[in-house]
Order: sequence, then C-alpha cells, then structure tokens
Amino acid sequence: MQSGDDEAIWQSVLARAPGAAQALPLYAPLLAGPLVLGRIAQTLDGKIATASGASFWISGPDDILHTHRLRALFDAVLVGAGTIRADDPLLTTRLCDGPSPTRVVLDTELSLPAHHRVFCGGPPTLIVCAADRASSRDRDVIGAPRAGRGLDLTAVIAELRRRGLSRLFIEGGGVTVSRFLAAGLLDRLHVTIAPLLLGDGIPAFTLPGVARPEDGLRLDWTLHQLGRDILLDIPLRAAAR
Ligand SMILES: NC(=O)c1ccc[n+]([C@@H]2O[C@H](COP(=O)([O-])OP(=O)(O)OC[C@H]3O[C@@H](n4cnc5c(N)ncnc54)[C@H](OP(=O)(O)O)[C@@H]3O)[C@@H](O)[C@H]2O)c1
Repeated sequence: MQSGDDEAIWQSVLARAPGAAQALPLYAPLLAGPLVLGRIAQTLDGKIATASGASFWISGPDDILHTHRLRALFDAVLVGAGTIRADDPLLTTRLCDGPSPTRVVLDTELSLPAHHRVFCGGPPTLIVCAADRASSRDRDVIGAPRAGRGLDLTAVIAELRRRGLSRLFIEGGGVTVSRFLAAGLLDRLHVTIAPLLLGDGIPAFTLPGVARPEDGLRLDWTLHQLGRDILLDIPLRAAAR
C-alpha cells in the first residue's frame, strides 16, 4: 500500500467513524510500512469465546467498529481454521468506509469445507496449508513448510509479502494470535477487555509457561476506552521490519 493510499483510506475511515478523530493516537502507529498486528477481544477472565465456541458478542459495538476499521487499514486479514469453523465470518469491511482486505485462512491439513462464506465470493481468499497438502494448480492455496504442530509462520509472512500483502491483521483466534506472538512475529497487539466473566471458555493466549513472574513477557501498553470496553495498545517491536 502506498502512503498516498494510506492517507486516502485514513481520511475515509475517519469520515465514517464517529469519534475517530480522538482515536488518532490509536490508529496513527498503524499507518506506516509493513506491519503485523495481532488482535484479541477477551473477557475479564481471559476468554475469547464460551466453551462451545460462541463469541458473539464478547465486546461491544465500539470494539466491533474498531475491528472493521482495522480491516480497512490492512492488506490482509488472517484467521485460524478454528475461527472459520466456529464463526463462519465474512471478514469484510462493512461498518465503516474503506476497502475489504484479502482474506487469509491458516488450515494446515486443508480440511475446511468449501461452503464457508469466505470461500463463496467477495474479496479474494487465500488458504495456507502444509506444502505436502497443496496442489500447484490452485493459485489460491499457498503451501508452507510444516513447523512443529503447525506451519512455519516466518515462511507464511514471507510468501504473503511476496504477493504484495505486507500489512497483516491477525484477527484470531487465540491459538493463531498466540503462535504468531510466541514466534516473535507480531509488531503490535490490540487486546480489548470486556467487563464480562464467562467462567469457562476458549483461552485468549496459549503460550509456554514460565517458572517465575520475571521470566514472563513484560509488556508496555496504552489504554483506550471503547464504549464500556478498554483496549490495550501494545507495541511489541520498535521498528517494523
Ligand atoms: N474474541 C475474539 O477476539 C475472537 C476472534 C476470533 C475468533 N474467536 C473465537 O475463537 C474460537 C477459535 O479460536 P481458537 O483459538 O480455538 O482457534 P483459531 O486460532 O481460530 O484456529 C486454530 C487453528 O488454526 C490453524 N492454525 C493456527 N495457527 C497455525 C499455525 N501456526 N500453523 C498451522 N495452522 C495454524 C490450526 O488449524 P488446524 O489444526 O485445522 O490445522 C489451528 O488448530 C472460536 O470460538 C471463535 O468464535 C474469538
């Protein structure tokens, strides 16, 4: 995306988004250069969905509008297969002005059925699966090396950049955002905390444990109020690669 395009999209997002002018400190760091942003909307007890996978709605309307603004500002929105199975989302920009991003789905074994809505028209959708599952005839399927129980995310990012998708919005779910975070591949993280307790449910973060608090990943954050929710804007790397 060119910087002139950034400015035009930014102006159009602002024009349609009530109160967005006050949110400039939230969006300004997202406008320049290649960027990988992780995103989670979680309850106070750290869940992104109930145990049965229901996540509509954890956070309020302002946070959902924020998610649509983010879609408009990125080249691609990426989710894990679990989110497609549970939510069947469209992943398009509908609540604010601006373009819909290319949709990217991580599906290691190429197991998602074709009836899901991201595969049935709309903006382009790319599926990333293990290279041994991909057919070279299908341009919309990207084969990536396996790594551990999933895919080599460094290689996934490199291939998406080769295709012109250098600004990536990792929209969920928890497993996917956690794997990008654990691999050190997120430049920034937006975590919304809703004033809601579920007791049980799907966790926001699943990361290797540490023995002592000082061994954990200590973060800085800036708080933003989004209606009744709070959003934590967390820079993870000073400079975008
Ligand atoms: N509140 C929120 O912010 C939010 C956002 C999105 C979704 N959700 C909810 O979250 C739930 C789904 O989240 P989840 O954490 O269970 O699953 P998820 O992150 O959506 O998907 C996990 C799956 O994605 C694939 N995947 C992710 N990272 C991969 C990698 N590095 N390499 C290869 N494959 C990878 C794998 O699929 P395979 O095992 O099939 O290969 C993995 O099992 C749903 O209930 C949804 O409603 C909530």
